Amino acid sequence: MIRGTILGTGSYLPKFRLTNAELEKLVDTSDEWIATRTGIRVRHISGPGEETSKIAAQAARQALAMAGISPEELSQIIVGTITPEMTMPSCACLVQKEIGAVNGYAFDLSAACSGFLYALDIADKQVRANPDSKILVIGAETLSSRVNWQDRNTCVLFGDGAGAAVVGSARGERGILAGKLFSDGRLWDLLHMNAAPSQNPFLGGEDGGGVDPSRLGTPRKDSGSYIRMVGREVFKNAVRAMEDAVAQVLREAGVSASDIDLVVPHQANIRILQSLGERLGISQEKIYINIHKYGNTSAATIPIALDDANREGMLHRGDMVLLCAFGGGFTWGAELIRW
Ligand code: UT7
Repeated sequence: MIRGTILGTGSYLPKFRLTNAELEKLVDTSDEWIATRTGIRVRHISGPGEETSKIAAQAARQALAMAGISPEELSQIIVGTITPEMTMPSCACLVQKEIGAVNGYAFDLSAACSGFLYALDIADKQVRANPDSKILVIGAETLSSRVNWQDRNTCVLFGDGAGAAVVGSARGERGILAGKLFSDGRLWDLLHMNAAPSQNPFLGGEDGGGVDPSRLGTPRKDSGSYIRMVGREVFKNAVRAMEDAVAQVLREAGVSASDIDLVVPHQANIRILQSLGERLGISQEKIYINIHKYGNTSAATIPIALDDANREGMLHRGDMVLLCAFGGGFTWGAELIRW
């Protein structure tokens, strides 16, 4: 049987790190509240030259190098993002130019925090239909540009970053065993962001003054484009939806929760992941967590975590690896991979 499989991973985090202590100076919050309620201690914020396509390209180069694939061999580039620096051309086309992937075609996919999972599922189906395909799947975000740095309910949660995976075909037991994607637009307003051009205050603001953390408190004119979230409601929906998606994927693959070697989930809140583990009967040691270092980077959390786990030697050939995500839309899903 031919399946899509991950041949290489990569990631890139912007150089500037914003700690909880620095956020204490901007809004009425505390390191203690952020760490205990979310698990986050630090997040990375993009600066000049670290636009979404640029950090995506950095992650892509690493993934290609690990896979031993040249950019010219790529048949598709899919970027999951809700924070492209341009509406047109797509972030994926800019990545294509940046890395010199002169063959194939590129497009963006908008599924919020589930963007990487959606893109991976599409890549798997493409590879099954055309086993010679080599597809670059990326999750990349610069959410710092869309956060209201005066709203403590949201500004402590998000960070910037990019992760990438090269998907090719595998015969036999290896590869993506099952995947399930879902969406439900009825509760869209619990987590949303209006479309509007914007940039983060670190990028210099209107006077182009370069990276300056003190700009974070500067109100912007395009206030309608900020991320808005009813956190507690999103939390409850996230736990329920991911539990259901995982159960369906395991059932489809004929695998039980005790067979899972590592869960690499979307990193939105450490308490969501603890709750998910308890409900699924998967021990906490098997749930990969890096939210303390990066915060919630939306579509980028899963590929960054996958790359971290990969480079830490936590993924072994034959391991059963489970990915799951939940995000605005709502969108959610799960993918099961035999590594
Ligand atoms: O990635 C897409 C999916 N996103 C998610 O899955 C995120 C889901 N939601 C969450 O992670 C959590 O709901 C939050 C971390 C956003 C909030 O945690 P919570 O335990 O649900 O807190 P809450 O919103 O119910 O607020 C509890 C209290 C409130 O004060 P009162 O009304 O009880 O006096 C908030 O005003 O905490 C207050 N609060 C804060 N206090 C200090 C909210 N944000 C902060 C803050 N610092 N940054």
